Amino acid sequence: MSRIIAVFNQVGGVAKTTLTQNLGYQLAQLGHRVLLIDLDPHAGLTIFMGLVPRELEQTVNNAIVDEQPLPIHEGIHDLDLAPANISLSTAEVQLINASMRDFRLKEAIEPIEDNYDFILIDCPPSLGLLSYLSLVAATHVLVPLETHFKAFEGTGDLLKTVATVRRHKPNRKLQIAGFVPTKYDARNSQDTRTLAAINEQLAIAGTIYPPIPRSTAFVDASEERMPLAVYDPKHPSVQILKKIASSLESLK
Ligand SMILES: Nc1ncnc2c1ncn2[C@@H]1O[C@H](COP(=O)(O)OP(=O)(O)O)[C@@H](O)[C@H]1O
Ligand SMILES: [Mg+2]
Repeated sequence: MSRIIAVFNQVGGVAKTTLTQNLGYQLAQLGHRVLLIDLDPHAGLTIFMGLVPRELEQTVNNAIVDEQPLPIHEGIHDLDLAPANISLSTAEVQLINASMRDFRLKEAIEPIEDNYDFILIDCPPSLGLLSYLSLVAATHVLVPLETHFKAFEGTGDLLKTVATVRRHKPNRKLQIAGFVPTKYDARNSQDTRTLAAINEQLAIAGTIYPPIPRSTAFVDASEERMPLAVYDPKHPSVQILKKIASSLESLK
């Protein structure tokens, strides 16, 4: 059975896209068949994977609005990618009156689901319809949290949204895979305090994975359109990404 993980946090800049790409890459290195789905109209993941969004004729938008098959680009750094571009920004309005709209992404994934062990969905920075569609389609939700004082800003709303998806029909089985503290600076006392608070307050809701250090190598790797492990295989954060990826293997 494939695990469909929504990488979700309505706050921008917390490393959703970076994690989607890098955990996807590590899962592929562990021998899994991995599909990444870009569900953000800003198309950060599509760009990080080396495609040019405005040149794409078919995107995730065609799959969820026009019910076309998901367009899949195969074998980019051992990963498959269903890309996005700005056309996705019209999806929420176009789907306002659409029938069964909550299931549009779930239904787009269903025909290809068995081709993959892991499907990672990079959510947009909002609690709008696109994020909702991804929570309805997912088996698990993984939440990156930036380890600074604003880490908890929005966590309440985020957990409430997950609870709503679970409580009402669309996806009772949605599980919280856990929280990944990101951009962590162990020398900064505010970061260490925040990490301690994350461990204290959120462990009850899900696994707290090891923190990913703040490092410009992530920015450099994405500018080179590569996962960190391809850009700099010896970078210490690669080991942390590997550890998190192998924990994801045990999700049921
Ligand atoms: N561990 C990290 N250390 C430093 N910069 C990071 C780290 N992870 C991500 N970044 C950078 O932070 C910015 C936002 O990351 P991104 O993954 O796009 O966040 P989101 O998808 O949540 O908006 C990007 O420029 C990215 O390269
Ligand atoms: Mg993003």
